[in-house]
Amino acid sequence: MYNAILVLHFIGLASVVGGFLVQMRSADKGVNPAMLHGALTQLVTGLLLVGLPEMGAVVPYEGWESWDHGKIAVKLVLTLVITVLAFVGRKKPLPQKGFWAAIGALSIINVIIAVFW
Ligand code: HEM
Repeated sequence: MYNAILVLHFIGLASVVGGFLVQMRSADKGVNPAMLHGALTQLVTGLLLVGLPEMGAVVPYEGWESWDHGKIAVKLVLTLVITVLAFVGRKKPLPQKGFWAAIGALSIINVIIAVFW
């Protein structure tokens, strides 16, 4: 169960970063559906990855006790910002270059936090 959600968390990551990278050479950069749905996927799967173990429903790995709440808090805030930027940005006329760049950068920062923190 835990690993299945983690797989979805990686698919969400692929969606938001993939949606960003694929527009690298486009003149009309913007928030595409892959970025919006990837952000929402990260929010939902991330909260499940935290909530299910913390309430004792699943065990991520042998000897797990708790996540680093500082790391989770930073990832959650960044993901909320990403999601708001995606919802606001997609309503603007193209190009939505600032929204596109901010969502891509914050998502890659979240990957770095996930791996190095
Ligand atoms: C754009 C948003 C996000 C990205 C790109 C992202 C990326 C990642 C990556 C790459 C991993 C695997 C790390 C590893 O196994 O070493 C991971 C794991 C995890 N993520 Fe996220 N994440 C995002 C949002 C969130 C959110 C919003 C939460 C919770 C509120 C969250 C909670 C977790 C947890 C609990 C794990 C497993 C434990 C860990 O490795 O820290 N993530 N995430």
